[in-house]
Amino acid sequence: DKGEFKHYMLKEIYEQPDAVARTLEMAIDNRQASALRDDFLARNEAQLSGVQHVQIIACGTSYHAGMVAKYWFESLMRLSCSVEVASEFRYRNPVVLDNSLVICISQSGETADTLSALREIKKQNPAGLVSLALCNVPTSTLVRETDIFLPTLAGPEIGVASTKAFTTQLVALMLLVLKTGAVQQRIDSANLSTLLGELQKLPGQLYASLHLDAPIKAMAEHFEDKKSCLFLGRGLQFPIALEGALKLKEISYIHAEGYAAGELKHGPLALVDKDMPIVVLAPKDSMLDKLKANMQEVHARHGELFVFASEDSHINAEERLHVVYVKAVCETLAPIVYSVPIQLLSYHVAVMRGTDVDQPRNLAKSVTVE
Ligand code: F6R
Repeated sequence: DKGEFKHYMLKEIYEQPDAVARTLEMAIDNRQASALRDDFLARNEAQLSGVQHVQIIACGTSYHAGMVAKYWFESLMRLSCSVEVASEFRYRNPVVLDNSLVICISQSGETADTLSALREIKKQNPAGLVSLALCNVPTSTLVRETDIFLPTLAGPEIGVASTKAFTTQLVALMLLVLKTGAVQQRIDSANLSTLLGELQKLPGQLYASLHLDAPIKAMAEHFEDKKSCLFLGRGLQFPIALEGALKLKEISYIHAEGYAAGELKHGPLALVDKDMPIVVLAPKDSMLDKLKANMQEVHARHGELFVFASEDSHINAEERLHVVYVKAVCETLAPIVYSVPIQLLSYHVAVMRGTDVDQPRNLAKSVTVE
């Protein structure tokens, strides 16, 4: 039931504060936020303690969640992490290191390529292999075939374009990073309690992002008749740029590409002209100055910039530079908060173009064939 909403996708975008709060409750006790709950992955501590490498396998939006997790595992825990789309991984006879934690991320748990990649790894049977399903459907094939089940508590997702599944995947991945970091003593308790405190602010921050709906809708009007669009981000926002481009192309049918902003000079800058909208994800983080330089590069070539910027980023609107301000958030969790504006933008552009938002052409919710 869509209730008051025009589409399932919009309803699911608005469900994110609750879905994220539910997912957080698996691991964080509201009354005692400085440590993880004792019962969170309690039975898996021995398995997690032996992990020396993380291999993430997924498709589409779930793959983008995995890309964010790679930054987290490596920067917060100093644990090496590889991430790859399942359709490539399964066919290239990859090396799976001993003592790997293989994380399969899938909303449905039925994605054919993801399941086949997992089976391929199990056939290789490296020493100390631990497999984990990060999945929204407890009864799925993926959950049955893995050692550990870490649920996303998004609730059923009906819209083909993944929204609340993505943000809850990110939250669950962060909880997994913290748990593994705690078990292996690779995250100190001060850092852990700071991140737990920041995690608890997330539902409120997601509500605040939803309040940006009106300015984002106004921004969307600029995209209605566009042929092609770029999404730029750096660091933790690079996967969100990829996700923004995927969302826009799948529901509005406008060609879109996500790029790490530092790659502009290596090719995509040639595309930039006055008809090219460029969406930029600009939270206040360690990459902001570099990102501003990249924005300048496209602005100088008359590209029109549409920027989601932190209130304290000192980015001001000017000609051909539109800004929607997002409340300040901690750098580590910013990708979760900045997911909401790119979802809303894609949604409004698609509605204006009159496409079938919940059921885009040629796509299926669960991709059970390769
Ligand atoms: C995009 C989208 C797809 C899925 C992909 C994987 O909005 O929904 O890219 O993310 O098909 O599906 P799951 O997560 O079910 O394995």
